[in-house]
Amino acid sequence: MHSRIAGTGSYLPSRILTNSELARSVDTSDEWIRAMTGIAQRHIAGDGESTADMAAIAAKEALAAAGMRAAEIDLIIVATITPDLVFPTTAATVQAQIGARTVGCFDLSAACSGFVFALSMADGMIASGKCRSALVVGAERMSRLLDWTERSTCVLFGDGAGAAVLVASERPGVRSTSLHADGSTPDVLRAPSKRSPYLHMEGGAVFKFAVRSLVEGGQEALQANGMTSADVDWLIPHQANLRIIEASAKKLQVDASHVVVTVDHHANTSAASIPLALDQAVRDGRIRRGHNVLLLSVGGGFTWASCMLEW
Ligand code: UT7
Repeated sequence: MHSRIAGTGSYLPSRILTNSELARSVDTSDEWIRAMTGIAQRHIAGDGESTADMAAIAAKEALAAAGMRAAEIDLIIVATITPDLVFPTTAATVQAQIGARTVGCFDLSAACSGFVFALSMADGMIASGKCRSALVVGAERMSRLLDWTERSTCVLFGDGAGAAVLVASERPGVRSTSLHADGSTPDVLRAPSKRSPYLHMEGGAVFKFAVRSLVEGGQEALQANGMTSADVDWLIPHQANLRIIEASAKKLQVDASHVVVTVDHHANTSAASIPLALDQAVRDGRIRRGHNVLLLSVGGGFTWASCMLEW
């Protein structure tokens, strides 16, 4: 038995924060942010808007796209590093908000790689026959992890959620996943940092690691499926920085016309970035049945992961 994605959904808060608006409160500029990151704007959750609220809206949209009711879901995983509470988990709150049954629900913490890690867990549960369907969500309210006076980090992130419904299928769907972590350099990217409750990042070191691990994940996925980069219809890398996306796509020999980019409008939404980009490319008709879609993530931990999908 295999798993395949039957529907996707996403949610972005209505409040848009542009670079120029940010430049009024912190020493930066629209030119610097665009040139160094490709980011033009980000969405920011409202005061009463929780990670679970965003996740539940994306989940409902994914269920509608799959033509399924919440009661048909056997497992719920929410990938997040910005849960509203330690417990109840975000996933349990989503279960209640969407009216799912009392199925297993848990949060998964793997920073920006969380969605691909969660997809891999759900795929394993379905492939082993332990469940027939799963709801996998990446949802983040990164705005509350940021020091809004620290220009080197606050310009980079945004809020949002993306979701996918996985179902049992005789044809794959999920063709392969690979998961990695290296905990040996915890201070390069962490939250809280040693000196403050907020996210801290050594940008240059993260940049180099991100390109290296996205390429490694891509090569691993191609090898596992006996493919070359010419077989990839759509590459959906983690959306942290346009320069990272372009450098890794070039090294993987995937042409820019086959790469889904949302970082310009969403900024880095951590675990939500890949499912948000996936949903956008599915809804605008770029991703079509039979396409090979390669998801590549990298994030704090460090964590990195790949997933090859046949759509
Ligand atoms: O999800 C995974 C987590 N994050 C990432 O993947 C991000 C990885 N890193 C990056 O994207 C890049 O390292 C950044 C975009 C964050 C920074 O680019 P960089 O090429 O590594 O620049 P830098 O940190 O070396 O900074 C260059 C200059 C510095 O000034 P000086 O020392 O040269 O005078 C910074 O102080 O840019 C300055 N700077 C800024 N200037 C205007 C840093 N942030 C800003 C800013 N506006 N927001």
